Amino acid sequence: MQFGQFLDHDLTATPINPSNKTCCSTNLVLNDAQHEDVITNGPCFPIIIPEEDNHFETLASRCMENKRSHQTTVDGVPEQINLLSAFVDGSQVYGITEKQTLSLRSDAKGKGRLLDDNNNLPKNPDSSKCVITPGSGDSCVLAGDSRVHVYPGLGALHTVFLRMHNLNADGLAAVHPDWDDEKVFQEARRLTVALLQKISYSDWLAAVVGDDAMEEYGLSSGNYQYDATWDSTLDNSFSAAAFRFGHSMITDGLLINDQLYESINLFMNPHHVLHSLDSLLDGLIMDVAQRVDRWYSAGMTNHMFETSAFNGFDIVSLNIQRGRDHGLAPYYKWRALCDPDENALETFDELGRGGGIFNRVYRHVRDVDLYSGALEEQSVTRGVVGKTYACLIGRQFESLKYGDRFWYENPTSPHPFSQDQIDEIEQQSLATVLCQTTGLSSVQRDVFNGVATNNPLIDCRDVDAVNYGLF
Ligand code: HEM
Repeated sequence: MQFGQFLDHDLTATPINPSNKTCCSTNLVLNDAQHEDVITNGPCFPIIIPEEDNHFETLASRCMENKRSHQTTVDGVPEQINLLSAFVDGSQVYGITEKQTLSLRSDAKGKGRLLDDNNNLPKNPDSSKCVITPGSGDSCVLAGDSRVHVYPGLGALHTVFLRMHNLNADGLAAVHPDWDDEKVFQEARRLTVALLQKISYSDWLAAVVGDDAMEEYGLSSGNYQYDATWDSTLDNSFSAAAFRFGHSMITDGLLINDQLYESINLFMNPHHVLHSLDSLLDGLIMDVAQRVDRWYSAGMTNHMFETSAFNGFDIVSLNIQRGRDHGLAPYYKWRALCDPDENALETFDELGRGGGIFNRVYRHVRDVDLYSGALEEQSVTRGVVGKTYACLIGRQFESLKYGDRFWYENPTSPHPFSQDQIDEIEQQSLATVLCQTTGLSSVQRDVFNGVATNNPLIDCRDVDAVNYGLF
């Protein structure tokens, strides 16, 4: 699940209206009222929490602050913005503008490396960007995406790919002593992005959307053909709902150095990323993620980013509200789009096991939001999401792949990889990357699934480094 967040931060960042207006008031709670901005299209879109909620019970906590996403207009229709480039292009590692990339590059000339701090993410002089454990001497960190601190598992993957870039730069510089800093940097970046693309699709996505969607949307490697007519813009249904499925998989805490830390003490804090990276990663790949369903850990629904009692956020309410903010069509429409043979959804009973619960919350089955409706579907074979999310995610990744001129398998790319180089990239996986970049002694071959007879542990000493002689 953690890789999903890392990948998400390569694809999408939706800016929120920057207004500093306070949206919540006791008046709204007491009158169970909508904020007036809902009528006037202002920035506020707070969430009023019902009196019977078993966590947010004080009057002050029964309104969750929320602003609408920033809007622009396309052909007269309001649309939300993506600050990132959508493609799987490593922007969470390298940043999104040339200026940002330059600020993340090492000034050790001729080496083509990214800045690091003793092999960790470089220090961010602005200590307001994260939560610092008192007395630890820690600093906030810098990465290509500013959300790096949100959760330690995310910061850990940022560190792994920073190190992978630097390994690639060292390896390439060693076989090409004539290359200058710029050439080494760009080639190391091209290889790192190719590894990210390979791992995201062949390894991670395969474990998420299952065999049928991988097949239907051409997501496995091989037989690549670039098609300039694809529009690879991210769908609102993808960023505001489908790809948020991962929030349901977050566990209540992480096992680090044999100690269980609750999520509430992990949000925004880089301490374990800086001091216990191997143990943190080991816990993440050994721990079983939660199922994608309507059950979420309390850390995510009651205590997310909590700094004092009852001021945490609930990610599920935020996701549903964000879908409404973006004007997403309700669940039944997406279900029909993805599977025209499905029944048209007239009654709650047709929703199967979740029908009774939805019946208590929604007036009509056709009001059910995409985010909640699709989460109740049974997961697809050899995947973790239901068929509507497998379809929406599958379609999105299809357009991100076939519309990407720089896709690693594209023979017509402006600077294509040779078949030998592609074969070498195909040999790599997150397991081999972890072995090359951390002190872990063994990892299972497919880190997105638990250890099993057909997914044994591999000894990191047996993992070969990338064969830089081929590049
Ligand atoms: C502990 C881990 C995580 C935390 C604390 C977290 C937190 C958040 C928060 C606060 C938002 C903004 C919600 C809003 O106001 O609309 C968000 C958005 C999002 N999250 Fe997560 N998340 C986590 C893990 C994940 C995972 C595992 C995935 C996917 C597999 C994911 C996918 C997304 C997506 C697609 C968005 C929308 C991004 C955008 O368009 O700006 N998140 N998350």
